[in-house]
Amino acid sequence: MANIGVVGLQWGDEGKGKVIDLLSVDADIIVRYQGGANAGHTIVVGKEKIILHLVPSGILHKEKYCIIGNGVVLDPEVLDHEIKELKSRGYLEDDKKFMISGLTHLIMPYHKKLDMLKESKTKKKIGTTGRGIGPAYEDKVSRMGIRVIDLIDSKVFTEKVKQNLEIKNFIIQKYYGEEGFKAEDIVKQYAPYRRLLKRYATDTAGFLHRSISDKKNILFEGAQGTFLDIDHGTYPYVTSSNTVSGNIASGSGVPPTSIDYMLGICKAYTTRVGEGPFPTELKDSTGERIRDVGREYGSTTGRPRRCGWFDAVIVKRAIRLNGINGLCMMKLDVFDNFDAINICVGYEVKGKKIDVPPMGIEELENCKPILEELPGWNTSIHGIDMYKRLPRNAKRYLDRLEELLGIGIDIISTGPERDSTIVLKNPFIKNKG
Ligand code: GDP
Ligand code: IMO
Ligand code: MG
Repeated sequence: MANIGVVGLQWGDEGKGKVIDLLSVDADIIVRYQGGANAGHTIVVGKEKIILHLVPSGILHKEKYCIIGNGVVLDPEVLDHEIKELKSRGYLEDDKKFMISGLTHLIMPYHKKLDMLKESKTKKKIGTTGRGIGPAYEDKVSRMGIRVIDLIDSKVFTEKVKQNLEIKNFIIQKYYGEEGFKAEDIVKQYAPYRRLLKRYATDTAGFLHRSISDKKNILFEGAQGTFLDIDHGTYPYVTSSNTVSGNIASGSGVPPTSIDYMLGICKAYTTRVGEGPFPTELKDSTGERIRDVGREYGSTTGRPRRCGWFDAVIVKRAIRLNGINGLCMMKLDVFDNFDAINICVGYEVKGKKIDVPPMGIEELENCKPILEELPGWNTSIHGIDMYKRLPRNAKRYLDRLEELLGIGIDIISTGPERDSTIVLKNPFIKNKG
């Protein structure tokens, strides 16, 4: 058996959904452990495209168990919509195969309102997804949060909503000058979600502990990316959870000693949505070209993603932060028609060369990327599924990345579809024993 974590090594949208869907074939259980509906994980199967925000990306494999762990902040409205959509497409037929931790915190209507208000009324925007993520995690940490088990007990839920509204309405009305919420409206709105969540709520940590004893294969699906991590990212331009692999344990209840392999996902270039420093960003026609070819528009908000060259400085840092054992290099096909491709191999700041990202964002903003140019391959690699069929210059690009990062590439992705993939090493099979 093997338990594998999958995390993004950049600023999110690396292609985690595709890889999770692919690896789910060899997994028994797929677990989301942090983030919420700010995530948008895309899976392409034939002509069908599915974007998942909350339900784990293993859900298209009907015989697998999918779990939303305690570390997620769950918007029942989004979940309800997602479940209906999946069921209408013939997935999620067996409700017993989908579980939600009773300890998972809920996103409430006032979280979304406060997220939007903060973004629109403060001078320095973060560029959040507006899904209420920050305010929900704030409540969790300040011990004001409302969890799935609290919703299931209607008395506890009503009481907690009332308690929260005393403070939330004060802020919404007195500070922002907007209309507040009525407890009875929220209680009424959430009544159908009580019925929905009752169906799936359980002690998921206990289930995972039994599954580990039974030697099942567990796949942990990270959301966002390493540099959106609340501690290690480009603070304050980050999300409100720990996105690094260390959070797999607390976000699911599985101990760190039970995780065998960490797979890091990165694109062959870099993208970022929202505000914040981005040293290799291309604000010119090359950046636009990457956006057009790579269809770099947010899966959750539709916002255009900022694009730039591959940044080996940040990815190297991410490899260390997450304890990465192998890499997935995604979207290599996006460079099919580029004469030259650049890699950032270091930064120059105030005349000094550095190869580790500085701690402060002001310093990071002043970092000039030191670029190394490699020749393109000027031919389509879309759909290639065998390494030997890659053009020489594509192999050269991958070799150079491995050399700079000091780690091997396990999987190369040559298109959004399941079979547009070169699997050099399947971490489940490698670790089976
Ligand atoms: P995630 O949030 O990490 O799951 O990534 P997203 O789904 O937000 O964004 C990745 C996008 O790239 C999706 O539209 C995928 O369908 C697409 N994609 C994934 N792998 C490849 C690839 O190798 N080539 C191309 N062209 N697109 C890909
Ligand atoms: P996946 O899982 C890319 C970004 C937002 C914003 C910042 C804070 O699809 O890779 P938040 O709503 O979390 O408070 O926003 O984080 N962000 C993401 N960017 N991919 C994501 O998820 C993201 N989730 C949040 O754009 O800059
Ligand atoms: Mg995404």
